[in-house]
Amino acid sequence: MGYYESVKAKFDALKEKKDITVLAIESSCDETAAAVVKNGRQILSNVIASQIEIHRRFGGVVPEVASRNHTAAVGKVTDDALKQAGLRLSDIDLIAVTYGAGLLGALLVGVSYAKGLSYAAEIPLIPVSHIKGHIAANYIACPQLEPPYVCLLASGGHTALLKVEDYDSFTLLGSTQDDAAGEAFDKVARTLGLKYPGGPEIEKLALQGRPVIKFTRPLAKEDTLDFSYSGLKTAVINYVHNRAAKGEEINAADVAASFQKTAVDVLVDNAAAAVRRTKTDTLVIAGGVSANTYLREQADRAAAKYGFRAVYPPLGLCTDNAAMIASAAYFLLRSGESFAGLDLDAKATVPLGQADIT
Ligand code: KG4
Ligand code: ZN
Repeated sequence: MGYYESVKAKFDALKEKKDITVLAIESSCDETAAAVVKNGRQILSNVIASQIEIHRRFGGVVPEVASRNHTAAVGKVTDDALKQAGLRLSDIDLIAVTYGAGLLGALLVGVSYAKGLSYAAEIPLIPVSHIKGHIAANYIACPQLEPPYVCLLASGGHTALLKVEDYDSFTLLGSTQDDAAGEAFDKVARTLGLKYPGGPEIEKLALQGRPVIKFTRPLAKEDTLDFSYSGLKTAVINYVHNRAAKGEEINAADVAASFQKTAVDVLVDNAAAAVRRTKTDTLVIAGGVSANTYLREQADRAAAKYGFRAVYPPLGLCTDNAAMIASAAYFLLRSGESFAGLDLDAKATVPLGQADIT
């Protein structure tokens, strides 16, 4: 039997199998990650080799440097994930890999490695969108979580509100018209001379400041669930540069607190409006910005005020990891998704159901 017939037979058998163990590989940006997850919700191992320190001196991710470091790390990270799970490759039912969205060269490393493993061990391969992975982190965090619910996705690459109708069915309710929320945090941090990635640095500095500077709220007058961060980012940059040009003192902590409040209040207000409009009872928050404590507090506050439930992942599952990819793969399998061939390619952008958020 050739590779294709072998993985097809194994994949078909998985549909009837009770327990599914997934090995996932993620390399879309600056973390090389591998994880083993059972039945979509139980982490057996979750290994991350972060390149943050390597990119910090450049003030952001350098794609070619990221690809080279992924190549160096992917083998060891995968071996460690299996070892920490106490399993061998032959114990794995399904190999999952992030095929997009992200940096093409970085994605290609994970995709090529996963294809190689799949071919060598004749284990079916399933491609996972990074965005679906971020959403699925919440299935690990909250064992009772089931669709339908509203998801606020806020990361370095995406900002959107989605109605998650089912495990693999999404409707886009709103998205950013320009920059992503995490991107705005990173750019404002850079203007304030803080290190990369900017989100956690802004959050830390904001604790020492007060939100006393009035930055105009984006799209304030419009009845929309869309977002816009480019104007807010520019307003903060102009504020800092104008004061510096006049030789006036800048209270960086107040700038951080004021920016964070404006950026996060829009996320939470739109998310709460989306929950009410869709008549759902749960708001799920996903993506790197969901690590923000002020965002979590405001989401809890809105949940108490309007009577819905707010769910967000533990800190380690907010930013990029492979456990979330393994979880998403399990639910894709259960939703009837098909396996990939060895012609699987990396994609810089990916569609999300009806929502083509890029
Ligand atoms: O999901 P993620 O790790 O990568 C992408 O898929 O983009 O998100 C990274 C983004 C960065 O922009 C980072 O600054 C932001 O998430 N971030 C935060 C916090 N932690 C990470 N933003 C605000 N507050 C945080 N605590
Ligand atoms: Zn991400």
